[in-house]
Amino acid sequence: MEEVRIGPKASPRATHRKDRSFASASSPRFSARDERFMRRALTLARRALGSTSPNPMVGAVITRGGRVLGEGYHHAAGRPHAEIEALRDAARRGRPSVAGATLYVTLEPCCTQGLTPPCVDAVLRAGIAKVFVAAVDPNPSHSGRGLDQLSRAGVKVAVGLLAPESMRLNEAFNHWIVERTPFVTVKAAMTLDGKIATATGESQWITGEKARASSMRLRGEVDAILVGVNTVLLDNPRLSFRSGSSRRGAARRRGAPLRRVVLDSSARTPADARVLEPAAGHETIIVTTRSAPAARVKRLAARATVWRSPGRSGRVSLSWLMNKLGREGVTHLLVEGGGEVNASFLLEGRAHRVALFYAPKILGGATAKRGVGGKGARDLGDAIRLGDPEWRRVGKDLFVTARINADSPECENGRDVRSEGQDAAG
Ligand SMILES: NC(=O)c1ccc[n+]([C@@H]2O[C@H](COP(=O)([O-])OP(=O)(O)OC[C@H]3O[C@@H](n4cnc5c(N)ncnc54)[C@H](OP(=O)(O)O)[C@@H]3O)[C@@H](O)[C@H]2O)c1
Ligand SMILES: [Zn+2]
Repeated sequence: MEEVRIGPKASPRATHRKDRSFASASSPRFSARDERFMRRALTLARRALGSTSPNPMVGAVITRGGRVLGEGYHHAAGRPHAEIEALRDAARRGRPSVAGATLYVTLEPCCTQGLTPPCVDAVLRAGIAKVFVAAVDPNPSHSGRGLDQLSRAGVKVAVGLLAPESMRLNEAFNHWIVERTPFVTVKAAMTLDGKIATATGESQWITGEKARASSMRLRGEVDAILVGVNTVLLDNPRLSFRSGSSRRGAARRRGAPLRRVVLDSSARTPADARVLEPAAGHETIIVTTRSAPAARVKRLAARATVWRSPGRSGRVSLSWLMNKLGREGVTHLLVEGGGEVNASFLLEGRAHRVALFYAPKILGGATAKRGVGGKGARDLGDAIRLGDPEWRRVGKDLFVTARINADSPECENGRDVRSEGQDAAG
């Protein structure tokens, strides 16, 4: 095994870059066996999808001589980290000593006291001899320090095994921990001609049952859902997450409450709107502006949290809101329309990913709502470029995701991920 030594002079940023440079999932530096164990650790990490925020998902596997001694994952913020879960699992399996063993962990072990003690100390105490790390801690003030401490204590450390997979798994967290604003996914259900509602405002339901179930699962993965007040007025959605019988749903209930956010500059949300009805595990935030009539604000404040946005545009300031949500620990925000709100997020450069469902239907109608309204781009050159696209069939509908990121591979390199009948939400 090749060792990666993180010297005391290596800057956290440099370490981060080193990690990012492992483009291939099956780098020749790592054996097929190493890859298998790291894949297992990633699978374990994913079990906590929707329940670890504002922490990342992390999985760990401890092996000796190619056999698994213990494994585990981080279940929720405040609960033990993956490394500790794996050490405890080894003890439970009757292996009190893991001295000389190898640890595969999807994220760099932490070296500072947070809600739980530093994992680096526990790893050293246990006598682990080798540590494979998929991705370096993206937090600029911690990045590389855990690796450095392990290395200095004589543990062999190798970084980058399945790094892209690990970074994709925690894409939202990685963004939030650096920028301190939420990672934003814009979601819409449209006809093939890009309409999200008829000219009379009817939009339920454009897509089929399977697409709607996938869309519901997306809610289970985020910390907050956001819509514009017109959507509240026309559709009267609950904006709640209903888990059904999925395991992911069960995970969600262990996590922080799901925030339902409405952009409502002049407090027009009706007092009997469904989004104001209390729902276990949910919280509602109505975002108005300082010019909203006081009486209407007071009425809403009796039923929900009301925030008042600064700014002169007459509308809620997204830059202010993103900072506020970030401070509140919202790592991933799902913007669910309508067209005006989608346009604001996309055209103001506040969105990072799109998740678009297309029903094989055409609605037409010059005044029917489009998935993205607003003023739109003036020139073709101003189009928002999407990269890294993936598309799949969900029932009769098409589901497309893509990233808004100039560094992403161009659309021509996109992938047809899975076909009909498969789970679209990943
Ligand atoms: N198929 C789908 O996926 C889907 C999803 C959602 C909605 N819909 C449909 O979409 C339609 C509503 O869409 P819409 O475009 O008319 O309205 P919308 O996007 O739901 O709401 C827009 C309103 O939000 C308020 N707002 C406050 N701050 C804002 C900001 N920074 N940027 C943008 N808006 C801000 C504004 O009203 P104030 O100035 O009064 O605050 C604005 O007029 C409905 O027919 C609904 O059925 C479809
Ligand atoms: Zn830790």
